[in-house]
Amino acid sequence: MKIFIDTANLDEIKRAASLGVIDGVTTNPSLVAKEGVEYKSRIMDICDVVDGSISAECISLELDQLCAEARRVAAWHPNVTVKIPMSEVGLQAMAILSAEGIAINCTLIFSVNQALLAAKAGATYVSPFIGRINDGGADGMQLIRECAEIFSTYPEIKTEILSASIRNPRDVTEVALAGSHIATLPPSVLFQMINHPLTDLGIKAFLKDSESYSPV
Ligand code: G3P
Repeated sequence: MKIFIDTANLDEIKRAASLGVIDGVTTNPSLVAKEGVEYKSRIMDICDVVDGSISAECISLELDQLCAEARRVAAWHPNVTVKIPMSEVGLQAMAILSAEGIAINCTLIFSVNQALLAAKAGATYVSPFIGRINDGGADGMQLIRECAEIFSTYPEIKTEILSASIRNPRDVTEVALAGSHIATLPPSVLFQMINHPLTDLGIKAFLKDSESYSPV
């Protein structure tokens, strides 16, 4: 499973990238607004740090404007993936843009049928928001399992499932078990995944025991 990082914070992206396990970055308008930076320049900075898909969201609501915005954003860098929210206009735009070879991440997916339609429209990725589904009392993992089952039943579907709105390390394990192609993680979740109290205890014990001989 590929691991993306879900933030627009450059320091966090650099720290995550230094681990050597990051395959891409996802951003959204809320994450960029938190940083108080200019959108395009931040996306360009991210492209300099991570060599992988970098999702940048488009916000236009009318078809012509949305297509024009997506073409503009896609031209920023070859690694930019345009993020388009699921909607009727979004689907129309995805069909046009995917035919032009533009990589698309269809975001705000909350049902299998939305994912299926986005895949049919040529989305490179679909982003189910599992945390927000769980927050509403439904089962986000069930959505990932069902998408994975349907996508693998129909080999003509090349779209990858990009599990988003991940809230904790257990979510990562579960989306991996459910067959997600990618999980995009808040930095805090990524760094939590590294640690385990028994690892810390083990390192302490090995260090102590190593005092009895000269280090190599
Ligand atoms: O980037 C989209 C998604 O990961 C946002 O997650 O925590 O705001 O539901 P969250």
